[in-house]
Amino acid sequence: MSNVHPYVGRAHPRVDGALKVTGRAKYAAEFFADGMVYAAAVPATIAKGRIVSIDLSAAKSAPGVIDILTHENRPELPDSDEPYLNDMVAVPGSPFRALYNDRILYSGQPIALVVADTHENARHAASLVTATYEAETPTVDVAEARHEAYDTFEPRDGIPPPPPPRGDAEATFKGADIKLSESYRVAPEHHNPMELMATTVIWEGDGALTIHTKTQGVNNPKNYICAVLGLDPGKVRVTSPFVGGAFGMVLRPQYDLLVATMTAIKLERSVRLVLTRGQMYTMGWRPDTLQTVALSAKEDGELTSISHHAIQATSQFEDYQEPTVNWSGLIYDCPNVSLKYELAKIDVSTPSDMRAPGAALGVCALEIAMDELSYRLGMDPLELRLKNYAEKDQNDDKPFSSKELKAAYAQGAEQFGWKDRDSRPRSMRDGKELIGQGMATGCWEAMMQPHGGRATLSAEGKLEVACGTADIGTGTYTILAQIGADALGLDIDDVTARVGDTSLPMAPPEGGSWGAASAGNAVRVACTALKEELLKAARGLHDSPLANASLEHVSFANGKISLVSDDEKFVTFGDAVRGSGSADVTAEAMFEPDEDFAGKYASYTHSAVFAEVRVDEQLGVVRVTRIVSAIAAGKILNLATARSQILGGVVMGIGMALHEETMWDKALGRVVNANLGEYHMPAHADVQNIDVIFVEEDDKANPLGVKGLGEIGIVGAAAAIANAVFHATGKRVRDLPITIDKLL
Ligand code: MOS
Repeated sequence: MSNVHPYVGRAHPRVDGALKVTGRAKYAAEFFADGMVYAAAVPATIAKGRIVSIDLSAAKSAPGVIDILTHENRPELPDSDEPYLNDMVAVPGSPFRALYNDRILYSGQPIALVVADTHENARHAASLVTATYEAETPTVDVAEARHEAYDTFEPRDGIPPPPPPRGDAEATFKGADIKLSESYRVAPEHHNPMELMATTVIWEGDGALTIHTKTQGVNNPKNYICAVLGLDPGKVRVTSPFVGGAFGMVLRPQYDLLVATMTAIKLERSVRLVLTRGQMYTMGWRPDTLQTVALSAKEDGELTSISHHAIQATSQFEDYQEPTVNWSGLIYDCPNVSLKYELAKIDVSTPSDMRAPGAALGVCALEIAMDELSYRLGMDPLELRLKNYAEKDQNDDKPFSSKELKAAYAQGAEQFGWKDRDSRPRSMRDGKELIGQGMATGCWEAMMQPHGGRATLSAEGKLEVACGTADIGTGTYTILAQIGADALGLDIDDVTARVGDTSLPMAPPEGGSWGAASAGNAVRVACTALKEELLKAARGLHDSPLANASLEHVSFANGKISLVSDDEKFVTFGDAVRGSGSADVTAEAMFEPDEDFAGKYASYTHSAVFAEVRVDEQLGVVRVTRIVSAIAAGKILNLATARSQILGGVVMGIGMALHEETMWDKALGRVVNANLGEYHMPAHADVQNIDVIFVEEDDKANPLGVKGLGEIGIVGAAAAIANAVFHATGKRVRDLPITIDKLL
């Protein structure tokens, strides 16, 4: 065995990589059972009103059709609102219920589910279902609904409302000489993961179900479906071993789970439902957001006031909320701050978390405003940030558990060559291309959740580490295997990680960038518990050389438990396991975040993002030629998967700055670009050089020192690009994405 420890901190390749590239990694729509039937959803063609009648005659006589479910013939569902709230990350309101009644709440809402012998027959028959409606005029534009915006909502669990005002931002702004107040909009977006929404329900007989569904955490769909359909949790297993991208879209169960499970129970058969790409635009999205940011400063750049107001779209039936404006009270030191957050209801599906929910939007507006202020002051944008550097979290009046943002600014600027920038707009060009350079700050909360973990060692010296979290492509399998290998001193090839199954120890949905800290520490404590068990077994052996040893006296390496003081005295893992009297030794443990620490310190990840663009002066085409993203996020468990997280976040930032926009037809209330051809995301040609820097940051919020990386990559990226576009062109675009028409 080679001396490769520690694995943690290295760029170890993905342990699930081979399964993925050889097609052996199974996704929700790839499970199969004999007698399986296939379902297809029929979308409503109006956005608001009620169904008068549904004509199923053509669909019923189509080839292969077995059944069609509608609100009129579906199985009985509980009347009460109560069970529907059992989604672990539900938002206040009354959750959407597929096929529940005749009300249409948004375009594309499922009105029928066609079940047939093949996927193709189901899709075809679904296209033959027609309905008549009593239609009302929908509103799908938050700008039209803004006069009815409200802030008297029940707060969403885990999402803090804006902090109370401090100082007097309004009076300070009024009396200030140097100030700006501007409005910003970021267009609504959809997540667009590669993997389609899918649920495969395996009818195991006698009411037992194995449900394979696309999710960011198997316990959430399990709890939800058991509550909604009144199922015995002992008879339901949910798995989701692999997820082809999610970005927040499947933190909450979507309607495919409910209708597929309902159908399997009704027919007593296995059912598979895969939504179409178009149907992916009828659920979960990043809400349309209108923002106003007002800043004032002294001549030397010291901020004197910050006001930030956001109005965000939500559905008619739920109050989806994000901490959009809160960041503006936190990133910079400022005595006078006023933050306001409102919702406006429109006739759409409920928005959902999408990578860095709230921060991606709110920090974007703040960071464009900061850039504008730097030009008012004639001050370098980076200097302005440093001038107002926050040494503590003023929202909560707490010191930071760690904050190496200054190092991120310095290392990012150095790598980018920021000091060579000519600060005047339109001053840098190369032929007919204008060159622009901009920067921005990013910030995201470092969170943790209580989390279960399990570790099992076989007599052959193979370790399995397991918990019920999800790997949504972030690298969770790999970091768990690294942590397990280090804990037992094993070669990583002798370690298997398992996630995505309700038969594994309890885990919350994987989101908010808390996955690595929560699942990682859970596996760590489980491995410690396993070592205790192994040592107990080793001590109990006849004439044990470790008879009186406790954990601090021994080391686990090279397949042996050895005395630290005398490594000639050891018990092999195999002998210890055999000594336990069972085929393997297993231990489960819970990781509980340190509440005392969290009460004393504020924990955040930070980034400094530098962007270069080239703008074709005649055509208005913007290309992002270089990004440097310098990240301060505590201990980095795996440099390869961590870098990929930041790359992905930056690419989504390029999308937010230049490409992505979900467009609703205002009269029909329907998404008109509900496909990957017309919803523009960055493609390979749009992504050039991205450098990721991880600065050293020592954090004590948890024993691994991990802060999480899923979100921070996108925060600030769009603003840095928008600021670079201004520097290139002299034109300030405050309505993202910055499409060609806005520059010409
Ligand atoms: Mo993340 S938006 O919590 O998947």
